[in-house]
Amino acid sequence: YCLGVDLGTSAVKILLVDKEGKVVHEVSKSYPLIHEKSGYSEQDPEEWFQKTLAGLTEIMEVFEGEKEDIEGISFSGQMHGLVLLNEEKQVLRNAILWNDTRTTEQCQIIIDKAGDKLLEITKNPALEGFTLPKLLWVKQYEEEIFNQAAVFLLPKDYLRFRLTGNIHTEYSDAAGTLLLDISKKEWSTELCELFGIDSSLCPPLVESHAFVSTVTAEITKQTGLSCKVFAGGADNACGAIGAGILADGKTLCSIGTSGVVLSYEEKADKDFEGKVHYFNHGEENAYYTMGVTLAAGHSLSWFKETFAENIGFDELLEELNNVPIGANGLLFTPYLAGERTPHPDAAIRASFIGMDAAHKRRDFVRAVLEGITFSLNESIEIFRASGKTINTIISIGGGAKNDDWLQMQADIFKARVQKLSSEQGPGMGAAMLAAVGTGWYISLQECAEKMLQPAKEFEPIPENVTRYEVLYRIYQKVYSQTKTLSE
Ligand code: XUL
Repeated sequence: YCLGVDLGTSAVKILLVDKEGKVVHEVSKSYPLIHEKSGYSEQDPEEWFQKTLAGLTEIMEVFEGEKEDIEGISFSGQMHGLVLLNEEKQVLRNAILWNDTRTTEQCQIIIDKAGDKLLEITKNPALEGFTLPKLLWVKQYEEEIFNQAAVFLLPKDYLRFRLTGNIHTEYSDAAGTLLLDISKKEWSTELCELFGIDSSLCPPLVESHAFVSTVTAEITKQTGLSCKVFAGGADNACGAIGAGILADGKTLCSIGTSGVVLSYEEKADKDFEGKVHYFNHGEENAYYTMGVTLAAGHSLSWFKETFAENIGFDELLEELNNVPIGANGLLFTPYLAGERTPHPDAAIRASFIGMDAAHKRRDFVRAVLEGITFSLNESIEIFRASGKTINTIISIGGGAKNDDWLQMQADIFKARVQKLSSEQGPGMGAAMLAAVGTGWYISLQECAEKMLQPAKEFEPIPENVTRYEVLYRIYQKVYSQTKTLSE
């Protein structure tokens, strides 16, 4: 057996899986977000560790085999979060998370100082969520803390450190810091110097499936677990692994609170001008590009909470069936909390356009789902514009729970959409990294063939495709027309 630990933003989820990818045990432990001021989003790393420890202990208590039967553990984690440790490896302040937006000023400093260099080296633009702006914020506003810092870690790296005593990060998470030269796979001394970051602050880099050490004797005593520890990856990289996005042409659509479309890349040599994120994959020497719709599932949950509080999501989505494509003239843009791709704009807000006195709630539900899917399609179009062929898309998360929505994705994305038979997200990707690390399989590809099974496919229906195309062109005009409203 192998363990996959996914350190999310709201909870840590731990999966125990066997060689066929079957989940034998599963636990989830939640923790709060700390919002001290508007735009601030932090968490206490100690809490991550304690909840993980409790989860591992729980799994070991119900596990009926011998502890040696659990051969490996690996990690997936929320990206970009800044954990600062001092010389004694103690945490210096709460972690500043990916969804914290206090760093607009630091992003501007990065843009002014680094110019084209940033995109050249890191392949990504300066965004509030990334790690370098957070480091610069601490340097500027909490100088005393910054001066005590000996190393920074990303969230799941801190967990691994607590289980092993060793400090590392790996390429897929390092790629989201804005300090990694993503094609050379080394920390950029040029960027470190430019921003006055001592390069000793950057942790040593390893591959995602790399063996790091075994768990400490202390952890074995506390949990009963005694196994090999493998580095792990960023949650999006692990989500890709867990859905089998491991070859050119494979693309993922993952709809949770935010929505992500992610496409495998063999190299880091394409120029997307920073329009999509470009990160190292958890597979050695591979990459992926990624577009983000900030309020994907969030748009639907907002709608439900505001207008349909008493019914469940499944029931709400069933209303889709009774409304034709185009929601009887109603159009929605999902910018409830700003947008990332293709419009990096924290201030833009959402809209319903074309309301009619005859519209029912079901028309709004259909419009919301169409708007979310149109937004994700804008990222897919950026991938296609780079010359990429996208024929098959694996859909996971909330977007894969309703067949009508899956058909809508196929029609709007103009691609075959597949769902998996048992979909476990990034935790499965983490377990697969451990499975390859322990030597069960020689590659992630082989591991995916053995552990993941597609369940159902949806082909685009030509007449639907034509109808959506017309609506999509109208949808694309809404952003520029409503932009000034939020200024
Ligand atoms: C990716 C990003 C989020 C986090 C949260 O750029 O900010 O997907 O990884 O899980």
